[in-house]
Amino acid sequence: MYMGHIVLGITGGIAAYKAVEVARQLILLGHMVKVVMTENATRLVSPVTFGAITGNPVALELFEGPHGSMKHISLSREAELVVVAPATANILAKMASGLADDLLSTTLLATKAPILVAPAMNSNMYNHPATLSNIRELESRGVHVLGPASGSLACGEEGSGRMVEPDEIVESALRIMGMTRRLRGRKVLVTAGGTREPIDPVRFIGNRSSGRMGYALAEIAVNMGADVILVSGPTGLQAPKGVELIDVLRAEEMREEVVRLAKDCDVIVMAAAVADFTPSEVSRHKVKKDNIEELDLRLTRTRDILAELGKMKQKDQVLVGFAAETKEIEEHARRKMKAKKVDIMVANDVSSDDAGFASDYNRATIFFSDGGEMELDLIPKRDLARIIWEAAADLMG
Ligand code: CTP
Repeated sequence: MYMGHIVLGITGGIAAYKAVEVARQLILLGHMVKVVMTENATRLVSPVTFGAITGNPVALELFEGPHGSMKHISLSREAELVVVAPATANILAKMASGLADDLLSTTLLATKAPILVAPAMNSNMYNHPATLSNIRELESRGVHVLGPASGSLACGEEGSGRMVEPDEIVESALRIMGMTRRLRGRKVLVTAGGTREPIDPVRFIGNRSSGRMGYALAEIAVNMGADVILVSGPTGLQAPKGVELIDVLRAEEMREEVVRLAKDCDVIVMAAAVADFTPSEVSRHKVKKDNIEELDLRLTRTRDILAELGKMKQKDQVLVGFAAETKEIEEHARRKMKAKKVDIMVANDVSSDDAGFASDYNRATIFFSDGGEMELDLIPKRDLARIIWEAAADLMG
């Protein structure tokens, strides 16, 4: 699953080399990026570069692929956003007049997705009444026009016409897709998955947590600009790009890692299903069944990580807990929230079928320590993750 599907159009401006960085950042943020280059653009940067960065073949021709497939239609349909960077005076003119004579201009005419353009050209070309009027026309149709900036230009002149920096293009692309970067500069810690408490060298006590919620939280936090540490029990999931992954097995190991890292974090989200009990004794050798009809397992309470975090909570630190309940959800969630000094408690009813431990969806109610609550429908875990981070960001101010 990708965060978003973006078509990145590249036209023949010297700034085309900067589009490599735009593609790279979007890929790092988990987006599917398909690059379309005009013929002139390929003279400036090789399509091979974009192919390698995005992991997708670069689209160049209208009628490439088997049976003259309609590339512009598939590209325009799957795009959630089309970015043109750099956008030359020529492509802006074509867009303004609805010309479609190559793959990129045809895709731009066919798409219903929002369009972001980052003009880049010589300042005389930019200041020409034709270009300025084309840009005004595009803006009036809802095209997002970013820049150009002024400064020294590739042609040796000074003035307006520089493409804005890749960071700004990425930032703006995310904003248009409704993905804010509110966690930029924040350090967050997320725990995920279930812990495993060993009984003997081959057996353990585990639980049904799949880790999906925690991984979605980590992924979205990266997307929102945070530095993310993910402390995870075994899940079989691939760590999202850009997170620092710390693998743990037992509840106590998770506790040690989390407590060690907690004080430097702005937000800590305990999404892990931490074992509440652990075998009092771990057999050094495999327990044999011969002559055993009934086996007693003595269990000892584990330490509650979230409660400990509540006690050592730093000023302005936001603590988020999860409460998996089967009944009296609000009552239990609020009690846990208070006892553990949690700011945001995400409660879900694990007795319902669609709470799906191994599902990509979740139905939850979010309780806030100020008494507020937010009841949510069954939504993708990623959407829930975004809502949780937005709520945490609100608390941080
Ligand atoms: N939690 C924790 N350390 C533990 C147990 C739980 O940090 N040893 C955290 C979980 O990660 C979750 C929250 O506490 O964020 C609530 O966990 P839950 O199991 O629902 O509640 P408990 O407080 O353990 O109570 P109970 O199992 O009795 O419902």
